[in-house]
Amino acid sequence: MDAPPADTDAYESHRTGSRAAPPPPAMPRRGLLALATAALGTLIAAVLAVPGAAFILTPLKRKGSGGEFHSVTRLSQLEAGVPRSFAIVEERRDAWVHYPREPVGSVWLIRQQPGQKEQVIAFQSECPHLGCAINIKGDQTGFLCPCHTSAFTFEGQPTNHVPPRPMDRLEVELSADEDPEVRVKYQRFRTATEEKIPLA
Ligand code: FES
Repeated sequence: MDAPPADTDAYESHRTGSRAAPPPPAMPRRGLLALATAALGTLIAAVLAVPGAAFILTPLKRKGSGGEFHSVTRLSQLEAGVPRSFAIVEERRDAWVHYPREPVGSVWLIRQQPGQKEQVIAFQSECPHLGCAINIKGDQTGFLCPCHTSAFTFEGQPTNHVPPRPMDRLEVELSADEDPEVRVKYQRFRTATEEKIPLA
């Protein structure tokens, strides 16, 4: 006669003559490994997709902006008829890096005499010839670019044949304060062309 099995379920099965249901088949190790690998791959793809999309879209956003208004000074800081240069400071960012604020260019502002249609006019200080910085003539009678002697009136009109076009005017807006804030839409333009073509 067989000795009864030590396991309780097996003993009961042995005693009653019934058979216990077989345990469910375990998932093969190879299948488990494939499943884990696929899940990890999906996770990595999702993490990489977010900055990737930002990188692709960032240039589109930059191109569409067409320049931004910068607060440059207060109207009371400008003397009528006297040009003043101001640096334009911007913070830059791309898909990965946020750069600290730094000068990206400069503008010339001239407050107009009372009664004029515009209170302030602004010029890009980059020369339309080849992009050097425009300054004021030593005798204070107009603008001069020291690189190849492009010369302009204080209205930005050329006074010789070096520059291909007048100085590039920029949009100006004044706030509604008692001492208005002077804001300039800072843009850069292609050099060495007769046409004023904004850079993206
Ligand atoms: S860059 Fe100004 S004159 Fe040439």
